[in-house]
Amino acid sequence: MAPHEQLHAAALEALPRAYAPYSNYPVAAAALDAAGTVHTGINIENASYGLTQCAECSMLASWRLAAGAPLTHLVCINRRGDYITPCGRCRQVLYEHAAPTLSIATANGPVTLDELLPAAFGPHNLED
Ligand code: THU
Repeated sequence: MAPHEQLHAAALEALPRAYAPYSNYPVAAAALDAAGTVHTGINIENASYGLTQCAECSMLASWRLAAGAPLTHLVCINRRGDYITPCGRCRQVLYEHAAPTLSIATANGPVTLDELLPAAFGPHNLED
C-alpha cells in the first residue's frame, strides 16, 4: 500500500477521537516516520476557542513522545475522509520538526512541506 493510503486508513481510525464540539469540524492527522511507524493526532477544541489544538500538533506530540524517527509522509483528513492541507500555523510548526521534503497528501496529489511553506523562517535563522 502506498504511504499516503496507509496513512489515510490510520487517520480514519483516529478520527472518532477528535474533540470538535464548537466547529463541528473533526480533523485527523497521520504521519509515517522513516522507521515505518505511524503517528496519529486529532484536533482538540476548547471552550476558550483560541486554545484549540490542531490535529497536526497533537500528532507531533505523540511522535515526540514515541521518540519517532524523521517524518516522511503526512495525511490530514476531515470527517468525510477528504484530504485537507495543514493550516498556516501547522505548516510552521511542522517545519520545526520535519524535513522540507515531508510529503503531504492533497486532493491534487502529493506536495512537499517546502512547497506549502516556501522560504520558511526556521531554526537556521536564529543562528545568523
Ligand atoms: N484544524 C486542524 O486540526 N488542522 C488544520 O490544519 C486545520 C484546522 C482544526 C482546528 C479546528 O478545531 C477545526 O479544524 C476547524 O478549524
